Parts: sequence; C-alpha cells; structure tokens
Amino acid sequence: MPNAAVVGAGTMGAGIAQTAAQSGWDVVLLDVSTDVTQKAVERILAALDRLAEKGKLSPAQRQAAGRRLRVASGPADLRDCELVIEAVVEDLRIKADTLAPIAAAGPRAILASNTSSLSITRIAREVQARLGGSGDIPRRTVGMHFFNPVPLLPLVEVISGAESDPAVVQRVQQVAQEWGKTPVRARDVPGFIVNRVARGFYLESLRMLDEGVAGLDEIDRTVRGLLGFRMGPFELMDMIGIDVNFAVSCSVWEQLGRPARLTPHALQQQLVEQGRLGRKTRRGFYSYESEPPLPALTTPRRSFELPPKLYEAVRRFSEAALAEPGSITEQYLVSRVLVTVMNEAARLLDEGVADGADIDTAMKLGTNYPRGPIEWAERIGRHTCAALLRAMNERSGDGRFEPAEWLVR
Ligand SMILES: NC(=O)c1ccc[n+]([C@@H]2O[C@H](COP(=O)([O-])OP(=O)(O)OC[C@H]3O[C@@H](n4cnc5c(N)ncnc54)[C@H](O)[C@@H]3O)[C@@H](O)[C@H]2O)c1
Repeated sequence: MPNAAVVGAGTMGAGIAQTAAQSGWDVVLLDVSTDVTQKAVERILAALDRLAEKGKLSPAQRQAAGRRLRVASGPADLRDCELVIEAVVEDLRIKADTLAPIAAAGPRAILASNTSSLSITRIAREVQARLGGSGDIPRRTVGMHFFNPVPLLPLVEVISGAESDPAVVQRVQQVAQEWGKTPVRARDVPGFIVNRVARGFYLESLRMLDEGVAGLDEIDRTVRGLLGFRMGPFELMDMIGIDVNFAVSCSVWEQLGRPARLTPHALQQQLVEQGRLGRKTRRGFYSYESEPPLPALTTPRRSFELPPKLYEAVRRFSEAALAEPGSITEQYLVSRVLVTVMNEAARLLDEGVADGADIDTAMKLGTNYPRGPIEWAERIGRHTCAALLRAMNERSGDGRFEPAEWLVR
C-alpha cells in the first residue's frame, strides 16, 4: 500500500490527508502533539461521514478511508513513508526545523512543502544545513501547493526547486494525479503561478476604486457580468480574507524587489488594521449583517476622461474581449483588470516559470477564472493587448503597465 505522511494537521494538512486516504493511500499524521493530531483525525472522519451521508462515498469507502489514517507520535513513525507533505505554519525556520528530523529518519522519502509563499529552494537548503552541509535533501525536496478546500479544489502546483531531481518532480505529479488532482508545473518563483497572476485582479480594482472610477459593487458586478468571472475582486477578497490577501500581496511584492505594478494597496492595509477582514468578521469591503451584503466602503466618484489613444485602445480591446459592449466606463474597468492579469501571465512565460497551458489550467482551476489568461490574450490578439498596455502606461506614468515581451513579439 503506498503511504504518505502529512505534517501539520491544520486546515490544509487535514484536507491533504483526507484526499490521500480517499484515494487509497495509507496516511500518517504528525502535529505538535498527539492530542492535536487526534482531534484533526476526528475532524477528517466527520468530513468523511458527511460525504457518506450525501452519498458521495459508499459506506465501505467511508470505512476504508477512515482506517487508512494513523496518528504519529514523532518523526521516527514517518520513516517508511514514500512521501512526506509538510503543511505547518508559514515560517521558514519552523518548516526547516520540522522537516530536518523527518528527513533524517526517512532517508529516501520525498519531501514536499505546501508553502504558498516561501522558496522551495530555500526550505530545502535550510533543512540540509540542519543535517550537515551536504546531502541529497535539495534533490528530494519539491513544492506541492494545494488549494483550499483541498478535497474540493483539483489544482496542485508542483514546484521544482533549483536542485529538485526531475524524477522526484515527475513522481509527485503522478501522485497528485492518483489523488484525483490536476497538477501543473512551475519554477520556484514568488507566488508561483496563481498567487502571482491573480495579484493584478485585486490591485488594479483597488486602484480604480481609490481613483473614483467606480464603486466597489459596480466593479464586482461589471467583472462578473461582462467578463464572466464567478466573483468580482472585492467579493473574492472578502471571501479569502483581506488579511490573507494583503499578506500574499506584501510577500510577493517584497520577494520580487518591490515592483510598482505589485505595490500592495493602502485601502487593504487600512481594513486589516481596523479588523475588517471580510466574511469571517462579517465586515470587509461589504457588510454581511444583511442579505444581500451591502457595500461598506464608499469612495468618492470622480469624473475622468480617457486620452484619445487610450480610449481607442480600450474600445479595440473590449470589442475583441466582450460579448456585450457595455458603457465606456465599464469597458475601461474590465479592460484594465483583464489586461493586467494577462500581462503578469505573459511575464511568467517570458521568465520561463511555466508553460501557457499550465498557466491557463492553474488560473481556471485555482481561482475559477472563466478562461485562461494566455489563451484569452491569444484570442483577443497579443498586439491589441500590448497596445492597450502601452496606452495605459503613458497615462499612469509609473511604468507598471509595461507590456511583457511575449505580448509584443
Ligand atoms: N489556508 C490556505 O488557504 C492555504 C492554501 C495553500 C497553502 N497554504 C499553506 O499551508 C500551510 C499550512 O496552512 P494552514 O492554513 O493549514 O495552517 P493551520 O494553522 O490551519 O495549520 C498549521 C498546523 O501546523 C501545526 N504545526 C505547527 N508547528 C508544527 C510543528 N513544528 N510540527 C508539526 N505541526 C506543526 C499546527 O499545530 C497546525 O495544526 C502554510 O504553509 C500555508 O501557507 C495554506
């Protein structure tokens, strides 16, 4: 029976363990104490019960999955595992301290980290450093980035660190498939694919709100209505948690050397400081005290005029991108969001982070985009996208819309 270990049995670890057990793998879980781990196992068993009640698992499948889960009392219990997935708190030192004794106890195990924002290469090197300078830890370490809720969301970003062995990367991809997931491959860069490409969706929307182009509910409505996104940027930030979204923005921006285009927005920071974190605190961009939720942030509307070149570029882009025309304000709004997302995706192509098909799959499965940004840009026409970016760049004056090479080629 193939077996895996999951270290850190919180939200993500429990979801990963459940997924593996449902796929016929034996899973051993390790957390800070056996009490904590036992409670996590009980939560997983309750989740399996709910699936059985809904008829999504047969009683026999439910029993079999439950029997595959075991509680470990220390790293030595993980020594025979083929794959160890680490999902402890997002802290490089804690991750390395946790993985080092496990790597030492199981000298052949693949070490996979579910980190959202830390470098896989650095994690691997830190673990190796704790076990003496040289060894094969960096070769057997990869990123295996699942999405929340793990049992429901199919995407896994498989990340190669600078020294990861291609055979290890291949095996992890295969495991993800065995677990019913869709793996995409990416190099070890800040934010990987999804957390980086998605930044512009939020940031340009925040900037437009701040500039008074439109109200937040209008931006959400237009992005949903004209572009076919399931949720608008503000609804989505409220659902993810404004604190979580802001932390990812800061982390990606810092690690990439603080580029203007990814500068986190002050509005987000203010809401975090006020404890308005979104749905989980019942107040964020919207107030959830009533149904339907009402906008809880009013920003003054300002009239604006597009310079003729930008007006023309917006019109052309919209003509190719939208099924329904919408007003020029709506066109400007959705064009600006969409072309920013496309430009970041194109930058990943320029940097050789991932291929276009994987970028598209990642954005469709990881964040529910109606189309992949690369296939969408091809459909609209790369040069139409680049012309819009250039016109936006002239207006913004900060260079943040500089088109990626791939769009101008
Ligand atoms: N929550 C998400 O949406 C999400 C999505 C993708 C990736 N991630 C990443 O997954 C990881 C875990 O996130 P989470 O949301 O599940 O966190 P969480 O706080 O729910 O769980 C973390 C778990 O790690 C345990 N832990 C801490 N130190 C430990 C140690 N030394 N040994 C064993 N266990 C230890 C904690 O007791 C806790 O159970 C983070 O790296 C995070 O960035 C989170």
